[in-house]
Amino acid sequence: SKWLLSLMLTVGVGLLVTACGAGDKQAASGSSSSGGGGASEKVYVVGTDAAYPPFQMMEADKISGHDIDVMNAIAEAAGFKIEWKNTGWDPLFDGLDRGTVDIGISSITIREDRKQKYDFSEPYFEANQLILVPENSPVTKLADLKGKKIGVQAATTGEFVVQKAFGNTYEGLKGYDDMPSAIDDFYNGRVDAVVGDDGMIKYYVKKFKDKKFKMIKDDSFEKEYYGIIVKKGNTELLNKINEGLKKIKENGKLQEIYNQYFGNE
Ligand code: ARG
Repeated sequence: SKWLLSLMLTVGVGLLVTACGAGDKQAASGSSSSGGGGASEKVYVVGTDAAYPPFQMMEADKISGHDIDVMNAIAEAAGFKIEWKNTGWDPLFDGLDRGTVDIGISSITIREDRKQKYDFSEPYFEANQLILVPENSPVTKLADLKGKKIGVQAATTGEFVVQKAFGNTYEGLKGYDDMPSAIDDFYNGRVDAVVGDDGMIKYYVKKFKDKKFKMIKDDSFEKEYYGIIVKKGNTELLNKINEGLKKIKENGKLQEIYNQYFGNE
């Protein structure tokens, strides 16, 4: 029976090696440089605005968050290499246009207008807008904010819902380059409300437990889905991303990452 066990082990290990070999094919074909002198493997630059917790943020000089974990898992599952670049929001799109960024992941809502300029992956997250106001505020819906100062991140869906309700030139609308600046002004009473993605708003409500804030969902807010972007027509890269995304959806990794950040809600 000792002999049988060792046979089983040999066969087992053999199968494992075969399986790994098949899985590594894609990575191996690009990284033949390890054999010495070959072409080096392409490293894709991933741009993000790492100021949108808990999706993408800087923690002790390290980039982290839900979307960071998702993109790392996708690259690993599909067998390509990435490097991170904290670009900020507007420059992320410029970077894709100019080719200094290959991939954008930044809680980017899939929208028709954006699809004109960029190709989106399949969705990886569902979101919607939330209004953040002080707990004692009489506001119960978006329309109640008329005449009030509203902080948003410029060129995001938070800004778009406010513009849709009150017009593109609404005086009370304050568009910030990044979300933390808007939150900061809200915290200090310089704006009456903030509108932004639910995951992010909930994060700040939790963070500032001592301050009493409340969140409001307006009936007009439509479901949003986050996608990963590449330059329009970069189908080869988009296919790799979708392949990795499909894998991490199927093997439970995407759900695992979700649970890690939003599990106890
Ligand atoms: N989901 C919203 C949008 O696409 C907001 C995304 C903001 N992301 C960020 N990293 N600042 O417009």
